[in-house]
Amino acid sequence: MNAVELSHVSKHYLLGAERVAAISDVTLRIRAQRFTVLAGPSGSGKSTLLNLIGCIDRPDAGHLLIGGKTVQDWTDADLTAFRASHIGFIFQNFNLLPVLTAWENVEYPLLLAGTPATERRRRVSEMLDAVGLADKARHRPNQLSGGQCQRVAIARALIHQPQLILADEPTANLDSQTATGIVSLMRDLQKQRHTTFVFSSHDPMLMSHADDLVQIRDGRIGLVAPTMASEPATGTPQ
Ligand SMILES: Nc1ncnc2c1ncn2[C@@H]1O[C@H](COP(=O)(O)OP(=O)(O)O)[C@@H](O)[C@H]1O
Ligand SMILES: [Mg+2]
Repeated sequence: MNAVELSHVSKHYLLGAERVAAISDVTLRIRAQRFTVLAGPSGSGKSTLLNLIGCIDRPDAGHLLIGGKTVQDWTDADLTAFRASHIGFIFQNFNLLPVLTAWENVEYPLLLAGTPATERRRRVSEMLDAVGLADKARHRPNQLSGGQCQRVAIARALIHQPQLILADEPTANLDSQTATGIVSLMRDLQKQRHTTFVFSSHDPMLMSHADDLVQIRDGRIGLVAPTMASEPATGTPQ
């Protein structure tokens, strides 16, 4: 089962009079309930591709299926509603609301979804515990380290139990030890919750944690392969 299918997808930007091809004729399948890394150097098209998969942007050409749904012809309002219920985002700069505490940042998507207060309390408490921040609930982002901020952002992305989590270079602003901790946390949560997880990175050290590796360069897909960490399919000889 594929969580995401792209077929001959292209996307360009206009830079003044110049047309910049960011993604060119990409055909790709991302397996459901797997941890996939999108690997490529700066400017290779990782963010553009994740924004298309996350329905933040629309392709110029080609077809895009998310969870088996042809989302590209939907209205902006439909896409916004779909994103809010089906997709979680994690960013390089954490994108936490600075005036809210860790607890309130994690609770925010549930407030938007109209989740009742008792249910919100139970879920935020469980989620902060799952990312190891139960004792930091009252801290604001400026009272937390980069790694702790990213843990809050992970909790916020997972709180509404989306099918698909997209993380755009989630470790780029972290030192390598903290980055490794964040990737193993995402990996553990992905396994426990059977979510589909796609993260982009240009750091080869982090790629060994993934099930599937998708290499991207100059807006085109190179190698797509299971990694050494990938669990073999049932029945495969050991
Ligand atoms: N808003 C934009 N306007 C013009 N060009 C852009 C814009 N965003 C990205 N690009 C260009 O598209 C290409 C892919 O960028 P991007 O998807 O951000 O790559 P990555 O995330 O791998 O660094 C690059 O050449 C970049 O300069
Ligand atoms: Mg980027």
